[in-house]
Amino acid sequence: MTEQSSAQTTHALPSYLDPAHLGPWDTYLRQVDRVTPYLGHLSRWVETLKRPKRILVVDVPIEMDDGRIMHFEGYRVQHNISRGPGKGGVRFHQDVTLSEVMALSAWMSIKNAAVNVPYGGAKGGIRVDPRQLSRGELERLTRRYTSEIGIIIGPSKDIPAPDVNTNEQVMAWMMDTYSVNLGETATGVVTGKPISLGGSLGRRDATGRGVFVVTCEAAHDLGMELKGARVVVQGAGNVGGTAARLFHEAGAKVIALQDHKATIHAEEGLDIPAALAHVAQHGSLEGFAATNISPEEFWALECEFLIPAALEGQLNAGNAGSVRAKVVVEGANGPTTPEADDILQENGVFMVPDVLANAGGVTVSYFEWVQDFSNFFWNEDEINQRLTRIMRDAYKSVAQTAREHKVSLRTAAFIVACTRILQAREMRGLYP
Ligand SMILES: NC(=O)c1ccc[n+]([C@@H]2O[C@H](COP(=O)([O-])OP(=O)(O)OC[C@H]3O[C@@H](n4cnc5c(N)ncnc54)[C@H](O)[C@@H]3O)[C@@H](O)[C@H]2O)c1
Repeated sequence: MTEQSSAQTTHALPSYLDPAHLGPWDTYLRQVDRVTPYLGHLSRWVETLKRPKRILVVDVPIEMDDGRIMHFEGYRVQHNISRGPGKGGVRFHQDVTLSEVMALSAWMSIKNAAVNVPYGGAKGGIRVDPRQLSRGELERLTRRYTSEIGIIIGPSKDIPAPDVNTNEQVMAWMMDTYSVNLGETATGVVTGKPISLGGSLGRRDATGRGVFVVTCEAAHDLGMELKGARVVVQGAGNVGGTAARLFHEAGAKVIALQDHKATIHAEEGLDIPAALAHVAQHGSLEGFAATNISPEEFWALECEFLIPAALEGQLNAGNAGSVRAKVVVEGANGPTTPEADDILQENGVFMVPDVLANAGGVTVSYFEWVQDFSNFFWNEDEINQRLTRIMRDAYKSVAQTAREHKVSLRTAAFIVACTRILQAREMRGLYP
């Protein structure tokens, strides 16, 4: 069977969506259409994946420091909870929309099922630019939002985590608010917490480490050596910085690194510890002693591994044709547009998709949740070993599915994930 594009498929949309402005939800629906032919008898249940299980839209009023009352729009979407409680981050951003949160929640269902952690998918957000808020306003916003969505979240219902513009402090406020309302401490209601409040060792490096582990697996499958391989990384933050460090430590040559201020290059390999120390001290790569190149040159660098680990939409129709990497491993969420995906596939570039490659973060969030339940905390070696095992197993089963059906790893990850979700749905049955 060949992969099919089904952009023309029409969907019976729920009445709350505007067909003219579906945004990322449209991309997600097309991805589901693409895998439906591979789902066998489970395709009878596929409509389940096209409708979020539960959507909560909340008004979040807060008193500003100057006495004004302001209202913000907040969401929590539980896309699917057939395999376990909802799991997914909370995004604070002025452009967040319901359609975007729906799509992000659905991709969490796929990611959690692809790596086989016992969660459904969920996501939350508030339409707010948090940089415009004082610390007190941010705390009040977070606490009121947590209270409003408190009716559907909980350690065995739906477990939020950080996403864009939310961090350990926001998670600490969420945990505290939920616990105060409940009358008991419930550390397992969120993950990505500070270590002192039930957070997990290894969480900070987990996504970059997962990227590194799946890259090693891909290299092994393709008969490529990691030692001496040329690696290009976009993003010197949590994901990109950690991945670059691990590649460097494994003897690969990270020949280029880009962040929002600078793009640096050295064909013999950059001094990654020094570059990351520079970022830690100055906030960006700007001013680091290395050759600067243009973004166009960056994407066109000849290399074995290219790791986009910054933002969405970075590999697009404008630059995908110039890519000379053999393998692209998506550290970021959605860094490749569907058009770029097709161009890269035509040009023979091997692609490891985000739903597999960056699942290390949610995997260690799962460990955090398990540790919180038992109040017994593991050491970092144990966490890294378990993470490595889960990421390897996930890569292997997705790669096996890709070979069986002669499809890309992205489609294979969706086949594996959608099959697991719909099997669970079928086994549970419909009530009544
Ligand atoms: N942190 C996690 O656990 C995690 C888990 C899964 C997915 N992700 C995804 O990985 C991506 C990166 O997340 P992060 O946590 O590393 O964020 P981060 O804020 O720590 O780092 C982002 C990096 O991207 C760079 N950047 C920003 N704009 C850029 C631009 N225009 N051009 C080049 N570089 C630019 C920044 O300078 C920074 O180095 C996001 O897509 C995120 O959703 C993160």
